[in-house]
Amino acid sequence: MSRVVAFVAPALSLSEANSFTSRLRNDRSGFVRLATMLGDLTGIHLPESEKNLSLMAGRLGPILRERDLESYDAYAGILAHRIPDDLQTFISAMTTNTTEFFRESAHFDHLARLVGGELGGGPELRVWCAACSTGQEVWTILITLHEAFVGARMPTIKLLATDIDHEILARAALGRYTEHEMGSVPPLFRQRYFLQGTGARKVWQVSPLLTQSVTFAPFNLTAGAYPFKHPFDIVFCRNVLIYFDRPTVADVLRKLGGALRPGGHLFLGHSESGTLRDERMSSVAAAVYKRKE
Ligand SMILES: C[S@@+](CC[C@H](N)C(=O)[O-])C[C@H]1O[C@@H](n2cnc3c(N)ncnc32)[C@H](O)[C@@H]1O
Repeated sequence: MSRVVAFVAPALSLSEANSFTSRLRNDRSGFVRLATMLGDLTGIHLPESEKNLSLMAGRLGPILRERDLESYDAYAGILAHRIPDDLQTFISAMTTNTTEFFRESAHFDHLARLVGGELGGGPELRVWCAACSTGQEVWTILITLHEAFVGARMPTIKLLATDIDHEILARAALGRYTEHEMGSVPPLFRQRYFLQGTGARKVWQVSPLLTQSVTFAPFNLTAGAYPFKHPFDIVFCRNVLIYFDRPTVADVLRKLGGALRPGGHLFLGHSESGTLRDERMSSVAAAVYKRKE
């Protein structure tokens, strides 16, 4: 019987791995080169600081080791060929995808009031969740909408969920969450909107009741003009502007405002409120803005 022996590159010892990471941490010119590339690709502004040098070394070190690359410059040389898979791996490693169900929960109370009132009367509700990460925000929006329309006629909900990171977007579309990730989802909502997996890991699967309303698509907020044919009633774009520099924030906010219909609402992260200066928009609640009629 033949035996297949896989060739496995010798793993670095812990001390070799540590010294590699610490060499990367001290490579300031390589850092600046890659941070500039990241800014051009995503709008993410990564100024040179000890914290960011460590962050980049921690995130890119494993990729460089896996590809047997000695330095940031060697990696930058590969990225310069602009091969989509390589660029995505780089983007995926350098984006921060922290999120959770019912994050900044006051926003969902506000959303429920809006759709119970001024935004709820039409036959269709168009929502965009920009920078949706692994999807918890998407499902929280949909749970909120379903709950708001219990006992009432529900409009057709069309939710577009986007992110620049393809890998994270695929996880969002899968709609599967561990018990730990489900921490902030109350039992009633688990029962109504999720199917519970069996087995030791007890993964929770988002129900088709919610998934049927969503389209997932990759989208870079710093891309040129936004391509949407029909304006949105509601846009969530939370906890991503914090990574951009001021001119990029201003440009993205101008385009987000343009993607809303008059009377539509924009939700930003709480730490991002105060960044919006647009005479078309008025502030209606903490980090919530309405496009004037
Ligand atoms: C911290 S998460 C925020 C997730 C969610 N909105 C929330 O508030 O919980 C930031 C997300 O922004 C995405 N992102 C970063 N730059 C982006 C860009 N230029 N265009 C679109 N998404 C971007 C990242 O991939 C990441 O998933």
